[in-house]
Amino acid sequence: MFTFGYTVFVPHLRVRGMILNQTPPFPFETPQDAGAQSTPREQRWTLDDIPWQKIEHREVAAREDFSLLVAAASLVEATTGLYTRNLIDLFHGDEEVSLWLGEHWLPEELQHGRALRLYVETAWPDFAWEEIYRRFLEEYAPFCRLDALEAALSLEMASRCVVEMGTASYYTTLSRASTEPVLSLLARRIAEDEVRHYKHFYRYFRKYREAEQPGRKEVAGALWRRLRMTNSEDGYIALKHVSLARHPDRPFDKRRYRALRRELRRSFLAQFPHAMSVKMLLKPLELPARAQRVAEPLALAIARRLAP
Ligand SMILES: [Fe+2]
Ligand SMILES: [Fe+2]
Repeated sequence: MFTFGYTVFVPHLRVRGMILNQTPPFPFETPQDAGAQSTPREQRWTLDDIPWQKIEHREVAAREDFSLLVAAASLVEATTGLYTRNLIDLFHGDEEVSLWLGEHWLPEELQHGRALRLYVETAWPDFAWEEIYRRFLEEYAPFCRLDALEAALSLEMASRCVVEMGTASYYTTLSRASTEPVLSLLARRIAEDEVRHYKHFYRYFRKYREAEQPGRKEVAGALWRRLRMTNSEDGYIALKHVSLARHPDRPFDKRRYRALRRELRRSFLAQFPHAMSVKMLLKPLELPARAQRVAEPLALAIARRLAP
């Protein structure tokens, strides 16, 4: 699963009008790059752009692993509003960053939650989303922490790059693997958003790095701390409640979770975008060419752990 470590309730969001600069072109190509060039204030897609009525129910019924992954992702994405206030607060002095977070990033993340929920409710009408989300949140709430932010702004931006790399990889995998065309389209749309989020966080990382001059070791530390949060409680708790909803008689514990993760990884590893993930992961380190070559196999092993 991907990581969603920051949690604090956001009752509402104040936003002021402003147009952001375009993100700079990214030095490597991904299938999602085409979506990064449109104007920032433009709404790239809405729920109306997804042809829900074309969901192929026969394909849906054939693959329970997809139902687990999509439903778990819908629960986790739906909590976005709970962990963003302290992130937005951290950058309150930077109008460009806080406006982007409030006007673009947060609405897009919330839309991911709504869209995934709609997919789940359309594809699996017997999935009592509201009730399962309530149970998920009840168990997940105690893990919400306010102190998970990095001490330096540049390091926090590097850390956010890891989160977006994780989600971009996750949805790209889902999109490639899904034989159900509507899910494949929806996952692609979300993956495009996540790649764009990464580019923004990376640009802001460079801006703060300029001012704070963190060493490579410190940046690596921030990346590592964030990576260690992957497979953390949100993924476990989400999969637990989704799995229990589908099989109430099958107990779910850490052992079952690890076995399920192994199963899912086996099924989806071939579709995992390894090269993209490794480049996204290493990019904030700006390693010299030789060190990059040495680091790539290690980063690949780490990135593979992010496969669904
Ligand atoms: Fe998202
Ligand atoms: Fe994102």
